[in-house]
Amino acid sequence: MNHLPTREEAWNLLCSYIQSESLRRHVLTVEGVMRHFARKYQEDENEWGIIGLLHDLDFEQYPEQHCTKVRELLRDNGFDEEFIHAVASHGYGLCSDLEPVTNAEKVLYTIDELTGLIYAAAIMRPSKSVMDLETKSVKKKFKSPAFAANVDRELIQNGADRLGLPLDEVIEETILGMREIADQIGLAGEAQ
Ligand SMILES: [Fe+2]
Ligand SMILES: [Fe+2]
Repeated sequence: MNHLPTREEAWNLLCSYIQSESLRRHVLTVEGVMRHFARKYQEDENEWGIIGLLHDLDFEQYPEQHCTKVRELLRDNGFDEEFIHAVASHGYGLCSDLEPVTNAEKVLYTIDELTGLIYAAAIMRPSKSVMDLETKSVKKKFKSPAFAANVDRELIQNGADRLGLPLDEVIEETILGMREIADQIGLAGEAQ
C-alpha cells in the first residue's frame, strides 16, 4: 500500500460516511480484531486496522451497492487498488465477486460475521462483557442456529478453512482481539 492515511484521517473519512452508532461500533470491532490478527501474522498492523475500519464505508449511504460503491469512494480518496481489493473482497459470495486472497482479506472475510456472533454472545452474559467469554461458549452458540440466526455460520467456517485454521482457534483469537478494545465497543462489563 503506497499512501496509507493515518488512523486519524481514516477515522475522519469514516465519520463523514457513517453516522450510525452501531455501525461505527461494528467497524471499530473489526478494526481491533484485524490489528490483533496482523500481529499474529507479523504483518502491518496499521494497514490491517485501517482496512477493517473502512470496510463498510459505503454501507450506510449505499446499502444497495455495498462492496461496489466503496471502490469508487476509496479511489476518489486516493487509496490504491490493493487496498480497494482488500476492502471489497470482504463480501465475497454476498455482494462481491472478488475473492479474499491475502491473509488480511481472509481474516476480514471471516471475522466480519464472527464478531457479530461473539458480540451477541457477550451481551447475553450477566457481565455483558467479552472479558469472561470463553471459546467453548461461543462454539455452542455457533452450533445453535436459532441464536443470532442472521450470522452466516457456513461463511465463517469457509473463512477458517481458507485461513487453514481450526474454527476454535479463529474464535479464540477473535475473542482476544475484542478484549483488547472492549471498552471502546461497550463490552468491558464492570471495568467500563
Ligand atoms: Fe460489509
Ligand atoms: Fe462489516
